[in-house]
Amino acid sequence: MIRRILEYPDPVLRRVADPVPEVTPALEALVEDMFRTMHENMGLGLAAPQVGESIRLVVIELPSNENDSQAGTRYVFINPQLDLLGQRRDMTEGCLSLPGFRAEVTRAESASITYTNLLGEPESLEATGLLAQAIQHELDHLEGVLFFDHLASLDELEQIPPDGLDWTSPEEDESV
Ligand code: NI
Repeated sequence: MIRRILEYPDPVLRRVADPVPEVTPALEALVEDMFRTMHENMGLGLAAPQVGESIRLVVIELPSNENDSQAGTRYVFINPQLDLLGQRRDMTEGCLSLPGFRAEVTRAESASITYTNLLGEPESLEATGLLAQAIQHELDHLEGVLFFDHLASLDELEQIPPDGLDWTSPEEDESV
C-alpha cells in the first residue's frame, strides 16, 4: 500500500519516535509500504514518522544508477543508533516532507550505526557518502528533526526546479 507522506508542519514529524518492541508481520507490512511509498515519490529514504507511524524505523534504498557500491540495496534499520561519525562536509539534500526545496546541510562523511534487522537480530553497518548522509537525515526524523533545522537561516532553502526530481540526476534528487 502506498501511504500518504506527512508534510511539514505536521506535528507527528516533530515527535520523538518510540522504540520498536519487536518485529511483527504488521511491522514487515509497514516496511513494504514504506519502500513502495518511497519509490512512488522518488525518494531514497523514508522514516516511519513520515507516514504517520511514530516509531524508530527507517528504510533507505539508493537509486541503482547512483555511482555508489551501496546503491540498489534495501536497507531496513529498526531502532538504529549512530555510533561514529567521520569528517563533516556540506551536502545537498531535500525531504519528501518538505517537497520542492533543498539546501546544503553539513553532514558527516561516514557513519557507523547499530540497529535491529527484519529478523530481529542486532546488526551494524559502516556507511560512507550518500548512504551515510541518508542515514543521518533519516535518523534525525526519529528525533523530530528536519533537515532545515540544521540551517542557520531558512533563507538557505533553495527551490527545486520542477524537473529537478529525477532519479537520473542524483545531485538534484536527494529527497530523503
Ligand atoms: Ni526527510
